[in-house]
Amino acid sequence: MWTFPSLVLKGCVLVMSGVCKWQMRLFIAFVCLALGAHGQVRYSVPEEMTKGSLVGNIAQDLGLDVKRLKAGRARIFTEDSREYIGLNADKGTLVIKDKIDREELCAQLSPCSLHFQIILENPMELHRVDVEIVDINDNAPVFSRKEIDFQISESSLPGTRYALDSAKDPDVQLNTLQSYILNPSDHFGLKTMSNRDGSKYVEMVLQTPLDREIQEEHKLILTAYDGGNPQKSGTVKINVRVLDANDNAPVFSQATYRAVLPENSVTGTEVVRVTATDQDQGTNGEVTYVFSRSSDSDMSLFVVDPNTGEITVSGHLDFEKSKEFQLNLEAIDKGGLTDMCKVIIELSDVNDNAPVISVISFSSSIPENSTPETVIAMLNIKDIDSGKNGQVKCTVSRDLPFRITSSSSNFYSLVTDQVLDREKVPEYNITITATDEGSPPLSTNTTITLKISDVNDNAPFFHRQSFTAHIMENNSPGAAIFVVEAKDKDKGNNARVSYFLDESLVNGISATDYISVNAESGMIIAARSFDYEQIKELTIRVKAQDGGSPPLSSNVSVKIIIQDQNDNAPQILYPVQSSGSLVAEIVPRSADVGYLVTKVVAVDVDSGQNSWLSYKLQKSTDRALFEVGAQNGEIRTIRQVTDKDAVKQKLTVIVEDNGQPSRSATVNVNVALTDSFPEVLSEFTDFTHDKEYNDNLTFYLVLALAVVSFLFIVSIIAILSVKCYRWRRERMFYKSNGNLPVIPYYPPLYADVGGTGTLQHVYNYDVYRTTDSRKSDLKYSGPCSESIISLDARETQTLTHAQREVKNFEATDDQVRHDILAN
Ligand SMILES: *[C@@H]1O[C@H](CO)[C@@H](O)[C@H](O)[C@H]1NC(C)=O
Ligand SMILES: *[C@@H]1O[C@H](CO)[C@@H](O)[C@H](O)[C@H]1NC(C)=O
Repeated sequence: MWTFPSLVLKGCVLVMSGVCKWQMRLFIAFVCLALGAHGQVRYSVPEEMTKGSLVGNIAQDLGLDVKRLKAGRARIFTEDSREYIGLNADKGTLVIKDKIDREELCAQLSPCSLHFQIILENPMELHRVDVEIVDINDNAPVFSRKEIDFQISESSLPGTRYALDSAKDPDVQLNTLQSYILNPSDHFGLKTMSNRDGSKYVEMVLQTPLDREIQEEHKLILTAYDGGNPQKSGTVKINVRVLDANDNAPVFSQATYRAVLPENSVTGTEVVRVTATDQDQGTNGEVTYVFSRSSDSDMSLFVVDPNTGEITVSGHLDFEKSKEFQLNLEAIDKGGLTDMCKVIIELSDVNDNAPVISVISFSSSIPENSTPETVIAMLNIKDIDSGKNGQVKCTVSRDLPFRITSSSSNFYSLVTDQVLDREKVPEYNITITATDEGSPPLSTNTTITLKISDVNDNAPFFHRQSFTAHIMENNSPGAAIFVVEAKDKDKGNNARVSYFLDESLVNGISATDYISVNAESGMIIAARSFDYEQIKELTIRVKAQDGGSPPLSSNVSVKIIIQDQNDNAPQILYPVQSSGSLVAEIVPRSADVGYLVTKVVAVDVDSGQNSWLSYKLQKSTDRALFEVGAQNGEIRTIRQVTDKDAVKQKLTVIVEDNGQPSRSATVNVNVALTDSFPEVLSEFTDFTHDKEYNDNLTFYLVLALAVVSFLFIVSIIAILSVKCYRWRRERMFYKSNGNLPVIPYYPPLYADVGGTGTLQHVYNYDVYRTTDSRKSDLKYSGPCSESIISLDARETQTLTHAQREVKNFEATDDQVRHDILAN
């Protein structure tokens, strides 16, 4: 039995050639323990040996013969059912019967041994066998999870620790977990910590700050190593997601944005779009845009979409008010971090302003004789657009006699281009047009009305060189004969035409005695009643003069033809009538039929029809004896004179003219039918008083002549004294008063009394003429000088001469009188 240890030792050396030295020492210790027991053997085998592998030669180690083993029916007895090691009785060896996993068998217990008995019968022997299972590095460290996820805020501070899973390695001692390594290690490091039981765990420590914006995910690998040989390891993936913190402000893509925009762009026009980016995530990266209150431009003209950064027009952009806008824009993220940018918006000019014309000075009226280049108006024209849009051209219509001159920029003068004539164009509407040079051009116009004031450059004119007028004789004084009218193309006073009668002589008498002209109406008025038998026509000149200064005038000749009226009865020249009896025509009783007794001779001072005379026998003693030649007034017998016929025959012949109504005269013709003169004398005794009558007549004629001569001398003296008195008055007047303009005024104050037609009456009438209001000169004419030959049939032949008188009166200033004197 004493060999046993050596055997054991020998077997131990044999079997456990690969076991370490410290195991060997244990093994020796176990063997020593076994010596005290009842045949005890110890073996040591590594785990995981293949089946059949030899554990030890038990027969030899127990010092038993193989036969004894067989005979004793040696077998293995284990307390638990599982048999990892079997006995090969034939060879007397112990072999691996089942694969042994130390970790399964003993877990972390160390050393790990199998205990069993080898039982022999006949004699019964009991041998205890211990087989120590030696660990081999058959397990790698293992993490319970494949991946570990962390979510770490980027704002975490360095030094922050994160617990990591521990790896497990069932192996023991050196074969178990020894160390951890974390890779990569730019942000994180490992800190190994020990539990109170001595087990180790690791923590991950943040070493440098994280930045989500640089790297959002970090993939780390934690490797656990054991100490076996060969070394084994296990890994776990660590996913670190960096959580965003609002650590980034928004950033504009440009510090300054520029945009050029035409003025008057409509609301909603996009101006520019600004963009700011925020590297943060989620709400931290959501940017809104607002105008900064620091902008000094009018921000109400623009709006910015807070989400898109699009700036659009929201008001009326007027280049003329503001050419440039600077907007300060802020981008703000939800965390309140901001960035600023400038937006400079330049407006470009659009031709949206028409020129504005202001009339600085304007003379609304110029005289027609203004020289060319006379300034009518001064204008100021402005266009507030700029560049070409603000350059203005100013024009007036070509067909007007005006033009525009420019004195200095923006200032223009409207001047006349020609001499004007009010009589052609009295008024101009001058339209001044200002056009700028924009595209399209804009224009403005203004119209000024220029009146051309009159200058007395036109004389009055009659539309004919001369006129002819007719008037019946025996007109009433003051009768209108004719109206002359002169036109004057001028205006106002310059066209106010007054008419005057030119002083000229008609039949040696001043024309004013016959005619007057109404200064205002141009009416030619008869100043007296005309007698055709005295004057058959007269020619006067009427002057038309305007009221200009100096006045212009022209004249026209008017021929006035006086027309005959049947105002004179025929006058019988033969046989001469006297009161009482006439000389008788003697017809011999033997006279033949057709004997020419006598011829009635009559004349009519009228003319034409009015002087065609016809003769008729009005009364006769014996109608059947005589006849009168109607045309020639010859009285002839129409039958033989008989003895029965009375000696004294009295015939009345009527002479009629052919006027309408006709006038007539009668004559008595005494015819004596006798062959001897004494018979005739006795018949006509009443002829004797004829001598006495004739003496008386002569006396009366001489007396009348003396009276007429006396009256004539008295008249001459009266006229001379009146003339002298007037001359003195005029001298006094002109001394006291200057020459007043003489505008004659003729009031139509005429009157006539008595009938027209026959001149059985003599008219007296007044014509008053005032030459001016201060000095009234009344002229009185009448009765007119007419020679009237009147023949009264009931009386003997009479001849009446109406006398003509002219009286002149002086009238007082305020008084216009007329007087009617009628005989
Ligand atoms: C000028 O204009 C006024 C007002 O429009 C008009 O009454 C007048 O007849 C015009 N004159 C001319 C000469 O056209
Ligand atoms: C009348 O007019 C003519 C020209 O038409 C002029 O020659 C003449 O002198 C004028 N006569 C008077 C008396 O004014």
